[in-house]
Amino acid sequence: MPAPVPAVLDFLLARRSRPARTLAAPVPSRDEIARLIAAAARVPDHGKLAPWRFIVLTRPVLDRLAAQVAARGAELGIDAGKIAKSVAQYRDSPLAVAVISAPGDTGRIPLIEQQLSAGAVCMTLITAATAQGWGTNWLTGWQVYDRHFLREGLGLADHESVAGVIHVGTPTADVPERPRPDPAALTDWPVA
Ligand SMILES: Cc1cc2nc3c(=O)[nH]c(=O)nc-3n(C[C@H](O)[C@H](O)[C@H](O)COP(=O)(O)O)c2cc1C
Repeated sequence: MPAPVPAVLDFLLARRSRPARTLAAPVPSRDEIARLIAAAARVPDHGKLAPWRFIVLTRPVLDRLAAQVAARGAELGIDAGKIAKSVAQYRDSPLAVAVISAPGDTGRIPLIEQQLSAGAVCMTLITAATAQGWGTNWLTGWQVYDRHFLREGLGLADHESVAGVIHVGTPTADVPERPRPDPAALTDWPVA
């Protein structure tokens, strides 16, 4: 017999992100972050490779990253508006966890499956943090596709990439819900 936990489904049916710019301190403690990461690491993972890792970005680190994004954006000649948006993402965030996709043996387990597992880590981290009452936002931006920034800013190896930067904090503003897709329109039920 199934043993439903209806509160979990109700929670998932109402879960939503909060724009990172509306998140502020207080943020979860180090112990709570460790618990959230433990929850996030319990994702399906074909081959048990654990093809992901976490970098906790606290305030001073976020300030350093904001400065590195500004410098790198100028160096690459990126549009000023886009640079400003990416700089603000780090400068204004109270806390973020970078989920790093770190694929292992791709001969045995296809790369996409390892990357999907990293995506599942991101979503589980969001779900866990939201369940604890925190606001969250999954962001990326041009900088996470810049190998130089990944190496110099986040210390990534060449085979690693950012699956998501998960911003976590206290929501400070009530932002309207976004339109949601119609699940029925996205679902087929073949009869045979
Ligand atoms: C892989 C990934 C990367 C994203 N990167 C950005 C981003 O850089 N900037 C942005 O505004 N939204 C980005 N988003 C979307 C935000 O997470 C957005 O807040 C989200 O769609 C709101 O969703 P929710 O309320 O359904 O959780 C990204 C989403 C995903 C899955």
